[in-house]
Amino acid sequence: MARHIPETFINDLLLRVDIVDVIDHRVPLRKTGANLSGLCPFHTEKTPSFTVSPTKQFYHCFGCGKHGNAIGFLMELDRLEFVEAVEQLAAIAGVAVPYSQERTQQQSTQHQSLYELMLQAQEFYTQQLEQSRTAQQYLRQRGLNQQTIRHFKLGYAPAGWSQLLDYFNTHHPGAQNQLVQCGLVIRNDEGKTYDRFRDRILFPIFNRKGQIVGFGGRVLGDGLPKYLNSPESPIYHKGTGDLYGLYHLLQHSGNIPHILIVEGYMDLIALVQHGVTHVVATLGTATTRQHLERLFRYTKKLIFCFDGDSAGRQAGWRALENILPLMQDGHQAKFLFLPEGEDPDSIIRQEGVHNFNLRIDKAKPLVEFLFQELRLKTDPTTLDGRAALSQLAVPLLQKIPPGAYQQLMAEELARQVRIDNQKIQSLITEQPSNQSVPYPLRTAQKKIPMPRLSPIERALSYLIQHPQIARNPTISIPYYAETLPATHQLLLSVMDFIKANPHANTATLLQHWQGTESASILSRLVIIDHILPFAAMEQEFKEILKSLSKNTIELQIEALMLKASHSTLKNEEKIQLQQLIAQSKESLSS
Ligand code: UTP
Ligand code: MN
Repeated sequence: MARHIPETFINDLLLRVDIVDVIDHRVPLRKTGANLSGLCPFHTEKTPSFTVSPTKQFYHCFGCGKHGNAIGFLMELDRLEFVEAVEQLAAIAGVAVPYSQERTQQQSTQHQSLYELMLQAQEFYTQQLEQSRTAQQYLRQRGLNQQTIRHFKLGYAPAGWSQLLDYFNTHHPGAQNQLVQCGLVIRNDEGKTYDRFRDRILFPIFNRKGQIVGFGGRVLGDGLPKYLNSPESPIYHKGTGDLYGLYHLLQHSGNIPHILIVEGYMDLIALVQHGVTHVVATLGTATTRQHLERLFRYTKKLIFCFDGDSAGRQAGWRALENILPLMQDGHQAKFLFLPEGEDPDSIIRQEGVHNFNLRIDKAKPLVEFLFQELRLKTDPTTLDGRAALSQLAVPLLQKIPPGAYQQLMAEELARQVRIDNQKIQSLITEQPSNQSVPYPLRTAQKKIPMPRLSPIERALSYLIQHPQIARNPTISIPYYAETLPATHQLLLSVMDFIKANPHANTATLLQHWQGTESASILSRLVIIDHILPFAAMEQEFKEILKSLSKNTIELQIEALMLKASHSTLKNEEKIQLQQLIAQSKESLSS
């Protein structure tokens, strides 16, 4: 998959190029105070709310909430993959990208030959389809025409245990190991090899570039399993790879108004044959965060399509939970539930494209689906029910990035539970576990409502925005236990990172935690505008650290003691406990 680029190179690159140069090329910027601003390239606006900070090497739009470093900017604007954005940035800086050594060279030749192999296999399967009347008959009966069959390069794996193997032995000998490696051939415990796909219709799975990375095979009758799929392989990554149909979708030029997400091979193919072309299929599994992030790079609006039965609604709910963190302003998600017993394939064949498009137009917006499901679980006619509703809703709304969309959702919740809007807003911005301290921070106009931050969050927010705040740390805090709360642990590891990388800036810090669980915490804290002068922040940062150091030690002692009370501590844990106790005495006496 992604070629590996060393993190040190990425950090250096972010320090070397100036985000202002990168952005100024595309978006005319004007100096406003310490920052530069311009019209946001990610949403339409008449007055500039897009700002770029040269010191943080970071951009942020107060209008739509988009923010990130130079790499993120290129990924967002040009719809690039991470590696592609790094390559482009390196080109701007005039440096070569050091893909980690020959291994990648080897790896890419290995991948190349697996792609080649998949193509040869597909040619074999297509040829077999041309020779099998039963297989052709099956596809005809499922309503597919010749053009569709060719478009998706459908094939047929003949019955028998070694048809593909024999074909390769004759035409491309020496490929047995590779056939096993990409799952077309199975090698059992006794070392015997046999074809994975036998007597099945085959659907090649393409990556975004149009290379075949795997196959799905359907039985012609009622046998089980109905579909058999290629396993993961060096070239096929299910959770992070491309969704089925994405390659074909991207072949259409022009604007992509929305992308419809369906479940099955046949659903996608039937839709495309009927002219619904903006569609991808998840192949029966839940879409992952990476899938959704990628799709949002091509369009602003995703429409999930599910069966109307209870399994479909459950799948819908999972999709909803997955997509909440990606609902920054400008993104839209809708949910389309089909009548019970129908799927997109059956519906489009019955109703035709016109009626199907009417259904798409009527898909439920995320907000409606969310509250509808929550109302099913609670009784909004009673006070208790409304309290329960708000208790269920708040953690969900907290997953949405701060911005106008989150605010709208909060307003809807306030309306539903008949609570004051202000109160709901503060429930959402409040961190559940930490005691929050209100803090009088002013924000520039047109900002998101200032969240109330716990001391740890405040320190972390200062730290990622002004890493130099930790350059003369007066206190170093020992920590081992994974039992520290996430934000607490993150604060300490960000300090460690800065110690190891004294030149770190906001951009490199974000990059380091990109794609981890902590990314959403950081992304929430990085956009807060602290109006305090640096000296005041530094002062406060030190105070927070000081009180934290005692707290950190105590928390860890407690955690270890608790563990000791019901199991035996490992040797290293015993040593840690001794050290922590010594440290805690020291800090008492100081
Ligand atoms: P469905 O069971 O809804 O089947 O599975 P379908 O797509 O309507 O299939 P047809 O119309 O009967 O041919 C949805 C998707 O889940 C995956 C497949 O990708 C399928 O398209 N699936 C289903 C499997 O991987 N294995 C199975 O055994 C069943
Ligand atoms: Mn079906």
